[in-house]
Amino acid sequence: MITQKLDKILIVDDEPAIGQTLKEFLDCQGYSSSMASSGSAALDILENDKSFTLVLLDIKMPGISGVTVLKHLKDRGSDVAVIMMSGHGSEALAVECMKDGAEDYISKPFSFEDLLQRLERTRAHRWERIEKRRLQQEKEDFILMLSHDMKNPLTAVIGSIDIIREGCLGSVNEEQGDYLQSAIDSCNEVVLMIDNLLDIKKFEAGKIKMTIHSYNAHELISKASNQFARPARHDGIEFSEDLEPVKTEIAVDKNSFTRVLGNLLGNALKFTPVGGKISVSCRSISGGDMLALKIPAYVQVPPDFLKCDRFVKVVVSDTGNGIPENELESIFDRYTQFARKTGRELGGAGLGLAYCKLAIESFHGMIWAECKMGHGSEFIILLPAININRNGSV
Ligand SMILES: Nc1ncnc2c1ncn2[C@@H]1O[C@H](COP(=O)(O)OP(=O)(O)OP(=O)(O)O)[C@@H](O)[C@H]1O
Ligand SMILES: [Mg+2]
Repeated sequence: MITQKLDKILIVDDEPAIGQTLKEFLDCQGYSSSMASSGSAALDILENDKSFTLVLLDIKMPGISGVTVLKHLKDRGSDVAVIMMSGHGSEALAVECMKDGAEDYISKPFSFEDLLQRLERTRAHRWERIEKRRLQQEKEDFILMLSHDMKNPLTAVIGSIDIIREGCLGSVNEEQGDYLQSAIDSCNEVVLMIDNLLDIKKFEAGKIKMTIHSYNAHELISKASNQFARPARHDGIEFSEDLEPVKTEIAVDKNSFTRVLGNLLGNALKFTPVGGKISVSCRSISGGDMLALKIPAYVQVPPDFLKCDRFVKVVVSDTGNGIPENELESIFDRYTQFARKTGRELGGAGLGLAYCKLAIESFHGMIWAECKMGHGSEFIILLPAININRNGSV
């Protein structure tokens, strides 16, 4: 007795005789198959019936070719596995299709035995692929859930330590205060990592909520950098702030912008050895000055950016070991860290700069890094300045 293999196969061929022969054979083998005589018919069938798991797809057909059908299926994110059927002279095209996501190809004329072997192999690959994706998703969901659930207890720990540090439960000497502050800083680092991770996921899902208002750039920068002056001093690093007297407004989400600065300053602190220097500067620059900057080609220019006449340029620089030229773009990808030795135990998940990039782009700005190995790093943020009229309105 032939057992039902559950796989549903769509045979797509403009020659009805070939389609019919294949259908009879496959149904006999326990598969359940259907036929489509053109590329557009195949796309309609697969759009309306998601239970197909495999497609036997003729490469050359009048109208929409098999190559185009494959491209549409992959663009739609379809899970269906595709085996291309190539005729004489289209083998090179079939190999190209493998690069575009086809699972396999078979050259006509082929034997039923060869077809059966390829179907079985394709079927196994497809399940492996689906299972791997499911496990990956499960792992990511677990990490997200764990991160989310760790945030509340951590915030409670920070609050409790802070009460002791403030001396609310009895006097605390300077040394004890320092230890308690270090404990708070370490907990805050983990909270920052969790926030970066959760928000990157929200950006990716298009679910991030930003509350954009106009803020004085200096005030935001000063507030964020104040928090780093003490740990820098503690680590024997000179910390300076250089904010020009003219105050300029920027349109950002306050918490998110502060977090971007926190990530950049946190990195500067982490990657600068004892005796080094960190500085933060903020300048308002004209359109002409902006065009004179050496903005790397891989940095995306936001729409309407070039129509602005003033910009705010924020630079966070340090005298650490710097970043190799060929890593300057990839450090903004998530989980990217490159091997380095600074003599310190460096933590981190490689998420901070990925968050910075997404956040700054959501404010219609740009961020990039410049540096020379051994001479420190510079992170530059460029945001459109908001024009304030004399009466104070934007
Ligand atoms: N100021 C800097 N000096 C030298 N290298 C840096 C600096 N900032 C970032 N990097 C390099 O870029 C990588 C990515 O930075 P990112 O902030 O994304 O991750 P992280 O600091 O390693 O971890 P996380 O931010 O998640 O705690 C770092 O691991 C480091 O290799
Ligand atoms: Mg970081």
